Amino acid sequence: MTDKIKLAALCIFGTEGITAGELRRMGATGVEAENGRVVFDYSPQMLVRANLRCRYCERIMLLLRVFKAFNFEQLYQNVKSIPWERIILDNGQFPVNGSSLSSKLASVPACQKIIKKAIADRLMNARKVKYCEESGALYRIHFVAIKDTFSIMVDTSGEGLHKRGYRANSMEAPIKETLAAVISDLAVVKSNHTVVDPTCGSGTLLIEAALKAKNIAPGLHRSFACEKWSNIDKAVWQEERKLAVDGIITDCDFVGYGYDIDEEAIALAKENAEKAGVGSVLHFERRDIRDYKDEFERCTVICNPPYGERLLDYEKAREIYKIMGKKFVRGKGKSYTIISPDDEFEKYFGTPADKRRKIYNGKLKCQIYMYFKA
Ligand SMILES: C[S@@+](CC[C@H](N)C(=O)[O-])C[C@H]1O[C@@H](n2cnc3c(N)ncnc32)[C@H](O)[C@@H]1O
Repeated sequence: MTDKIKLAALCIFGTEGITAGELRRMGATGVEAENGRVVFDYSPQMLVRANLRCRYCERIMLLLRVFKAFNFEQLYQNVKSIPWERIILDNGQFPVNGSSLSSKLASVPACQKIIKKAIADRLMNARKVKYCEESGALYRIHFVAIKDTFSIMVDTSGEGLHKRGYRANSMEAPIKETLAAVISDLAVVKSNHTVVDPTCGSGTLLIEAALKAKNIAPGLHRSFACEKWSNIDKAVWQEERKLAVDGIITDCDFVGYGYDIDEEAIALAKENAEKAGVGSVLHFERRDIRDYKDEFERCTVICNPPYGERLLDYEKAREIYKIMGKKFVRGKGKSYTIISPDDEFEKYFGTPADKRRKIYNGKLKCQIYMYFKA
């Protein structure tokens, strides 16, 4: 496309390091973690591979240009200097959205308008036409301005990467798939592990753990915005999908057990696990946490217990933290990784965590509490 192009994986704050490690392992070069994103070198293969395989980030963007702009003329000229005619092909649509923080150009609608005009002018000049038809594939333009530094990006993913395609239905408080995958990573889930979620809801944590253990690319069963772009060869998609399928671990000892007090949640978890292609290694059963048994010699527990928003629910949630503290027996080969927004979680659980990590679950400020010392 253009020689200055980079790729950027947009991530939840706090997951940049995990995402950078994942990208390096899949062969990305020039990987640099920044605030809320990881930048890496562009190639059509890496663009497709990152969309198919990234577990933790929200989307993959083309990062076209980063520059300073203090007025609209500078913004216009910088955007117009990008060779859009090599990026937006076949009468592509190019809606513009973005954000501005601590910048002289603070009005988002005004920046949108200028950026749209600069792209349209460049395309009309290059193609010697009087207007841009915009009837083809979608090239969603996204700008971010922070302290007068603009990043101009194009969304390659379309729907957020948390949409793996297995969770059409969910319970009231499902955890985002990308965050569930982060929790599996922090719990160091491996291909020979027995993993248990005693409050599994629609099964997201266990499904993500199983996908990771079996090395199943999370994007294998969905489509992406850039699949419709004619500047990315169809053969690259075929090759990358084949590589991802060849990488699936079929003969591993991973097994997962999910429990929940709610019968409907259990039915849903089973359905979602089947759709995700990991139904054969996951077992779900209705069970109250009060009946939780420490039944495996080695076991990785990952858990997103209920949290209350009203006082009564709050007390009920804390009751469950107390039960967990008593039931989760420490020992060699046992670990417990629990996400909660309750700052007093450890007090009710009964012991301080060996490690904790601050993270957002949507807009909810949470911590992941990790217990792994015997
Ligand atoms: C925050 S949700 C878990 C959401 C889940 N991670 C998902 O992605 O769907 C908490 C779950 O705890 C379950 N729960 C509440 N009380 C319970 C109890 N006493 N024993 C077991 N599960 C319980 C609820 O039914 C709910 O599904």
